[in-house]
Amino acid sequence: MSSSLVHINASSSSSTLFRKPKAISTRPISSHHHHYPTSNRWSSRFSVSCSSSYSEVNTTDKFATPPIDIVADVKTERVVVLGGNGFVGSAICKTAVSRGFEVISMSRSGRPSSSDSWVDQVTWIAGDVFYANWDDVLVGATAVVSTIGGFGNEEQMKRINGEANVVAVDAAQEYGVPKFILISVHDYNLPSFLLSSGYFTGKRKAESAVLSKYPNSGVVLRPGFIYGKRKVDGFELPLDLVGEPLEKFLNATKSFTGPLSSLPASDLLLAPPISVDDVALAAVNAIADDDFFGVFTIEQIKEAAANVRV
Ligand SMILES: NC(=O)c1ccc[n+]([C@@H]2O[C@H](COP(=O)([O-])OP(=O)(O)OC[C@H]3O[C@@H](n4cnc5c(N)ncnc54)[C@H](OP(=O)(O)O)[C@@H]3O)[C@@H](O)[C@H]2O)c1
Repeated sequence: MSSSLVHINASSSSSTLFRKPKAISTRPISSHHHHYPTSNRWSSRFSVSCSSSYSEVNTTDKFATPPIDIVADVKTERVVVLGGNGFVGSAICKTAVSRGFEVISMSRSGRPSSSDSWVDQVTWIAGDVFYANWDDVLVGATAVVSTIGGFGNEEQMKRINGEANVVAVDAAQEYGVPKFILISVHDYNLPSFLLSSGYFTGKRKAESAVLSKYPNSGVVLRPGFIYGKRKVDGFELPLDLVGEPLEKFLNATKSFTGPLSSLPASDLLLAPPISVDDVALAAVNAIADDDFFGVFTIEQIKEAAANVRV
């Protein structure tokens, strides 16, 4: 039990790598740090010929510019969102679609009932990570984002937060997918008996799998309470009515509450909530930016989102 705690702390401090994300649309053409199988780089080549109007009217001018051939690599992302019909997953799919990414979602229940227009732009696959036919899902993918996780009894929490994600990381690596992004959870300042619950041990196990299999590209986002509109059976639960004012209040009172944060479990009250849109923006930025990898805290997720918000 305590050994897993030691491990958690070690991984959270030593592996936190944060580089200021670049704007999504400015990804450099040749910024590939890794050698990916070519089948996974969805790039297309096009060439443009152009000549200046000056040269056309002054054909005898010795300075007339010859036609220029421009050859550019345009990479299109093909993103697999595991749990794309869930609360966080839908926000990620919607944001990814709006950036022009190709998006495939896999979850047990498949296509959601919502009639929002972005839903038609996602390919919905009904499948369970434990029994998936990965050929249908991962071939040609440039990134996997896993939102799989949840509550239940101890065994269920270990399985869904931990093992399900470990299986997904292994499969993604086997198929040569270059990037894996995990939606994990904030390292709450909880007493050790709570941190050793299946929920947290599952999350940390999944994080370790991402960071060890994807040391130079894996992303672990650790949000606290996430607010936004959660759809349950067709109805919207307005979690933002609680989360947004709380986020503002905690920001405004930081100087008073700071000293309290060393008390055990104080993070439960003091860790700022974050909007589901910010989590989605950070995830989508992570997909597009090769320099964005490592473990991201609540503040770093917000910072990353702010950098790409339009
Ligand atoms: N919501 C928060 O405030 C919050 C805060 C911090 C961290 N997180 C973490 O963020 C992640 C997303 O949370 P959420 O609130 O969006 O949860 P959610 O709405 O329950 O979404 C979970 C998704 O995972 C899918 N899923 C579950 N088991 C699966 C399996 N075996 N195979 C394939 N898909 C499976 C679910 O769809 P099916 O049931 O159809 O399979 C669903 O789409 C979780 O890991 C959660 O722990 C959430």
